[in-house]
Amino acid sequence: MARILLGVSGGIAAYKALELARLATKAGHGLRVVMTPTAQRFVGPASFEGIVGAPVLTDEFERDPMRGAFPGDEPLAHDPIGHLEVVHNADAFLVAPASANTVAKLAAGICDSMLTTAFLACVAPRTVAPAMNDRMYADAATQSNLATLRERGVGVIEPDTGALASRGEYGTGRLPSPERLLAEIEAILPSAPAAWDGLRVLVTAGGTREPIDPVRFIGNRSSGRMGLALAAAAARRGADVTLIAANVSLPPPPGVRTVEVETTAELAAAVAAEFRAVHVLLMAAAPADFRAASPEAEKISREADPMRLALEPTEDILAGVAADRRADQTLVGFAAETGGSLERARSKLERKAVDAIVVNDVSRPDIGFDSTSNEVTIVERSGEHQVARASKEDIAEAILDRIEALRAKLTKQT
Ligand code: CTP
Repeated sequence: MARILLGVSGGIAAYKALELARLATKAGHGLRVVMTPTAQRFVGPASFEGIVGAPVLTDEFERDPMRGAFPGDEPLAHDPIGHLEVVHNADAFLVAPASANTVAKLAAGICDSMLTTAFLACVAPRTVAPAMNDRMYADAATQSNLATLRERGVGVIEPDTGALASRGEYGTGRLPSPERLLAEIEAILPSAPAAWDGLRVLVTAGGTREPIDPVRFIGNRSSGRMGLALAAAAARRGADVTLIAANVSLPPPPGVRTVEVETTAELAAAVAAEFRAVHVLLMAAAPADFRAASPEAEKISREADPMRLALEPTEDILAGVAADRRADQTLVGFAAETGGSLERARSKLERKAVDAIVVNDVSRPDIGFDSTSNEVTIVERSGEHQVARASKEDIAEAILDRIEALRAKLTKQT
């Protein structure tokens, strides 16, 4: 949880900063609040003090009873220079609302209050959320001051358009909701080291299409949902994720590099290009097992009766890359089976030389293809793990937990 310095300047929207302070404190962050003298004409320091559990700082010459510490931290043994110590301890500084006057002072580097002085001394990420009358916001002076701040690396949270806090006023200049302000500030906080930091993960998703002629193809019913859930979960754990998506219509998860392919041959080439660089391969795509031996260049007419389609098998992508695998790589295959037998999965585990096969029963209508939930068995050399019916997001987490366990064994062996 982070230490957030909240600067409140003079504007009607200052009342929203109280709710922001409440939400941030409830989320577990430690807050200190600094207010400009004008802000105190809109809301009182006592409200902030009650919410965050620490005195509000308004004057750079006053003594800080907490000596620059944030709630939950030990104060220094000596009496530091208040504005320097509090910014030194902050993980982020947000000024919300930032009035036109305060924006102008920050852009000019003026230090005439606790807020403006602390802002200049702060090396942690600094963000302002301007809020004011729409004409004051649109004025060239304000826009130029905001551009100056942006150029210097200060984040600017754009104001909303709508009814302004002052009665009867409408336009651009409204302070965004406290929920959005908190989300924006949390997004720039330095994140704690994640469990999969430094791990490169390759996920394949979707189903390949093998052309018969320019219009028709051989395909399958895979939606790519399971692969997307795996990619998103691995990214959340801090991994560097590449997703190879075969005909997936759903949007890719944020923070994931995506390569789009159509046929099994394209999927095979994309996997081969990435494989050596990755630590984990999650082969959730459903490649077609057969393709047309000679796809027609022209659309086949229905008059081509009797129609015969000669098929040839496609390459087994997973078995192909596994033949060349390193011991520090973890390979997982996914088998959609009709019926419950795990024997076929065990033989695939050996035949494809992978570390686990995730099996699901696609004969059940409530799970599997295009469904948002699934129920799987993870078959490993040392045994099986049942994952009860759950959302594909939760199934993805359970699969990643097993990969963590398999990789922990790897580290022990080396
Ligand atoms: N797979 C692959 N290349 C193929 C077919 C499948 O890499 N041409 C991968 C799938 O992505 C999956 C795993 O192999 O991770 C198991 O897929 P499955 O279709 O169950 O295996 P097959 O080898 O096709 O066996 P069968 O069709 O006989 O069940």
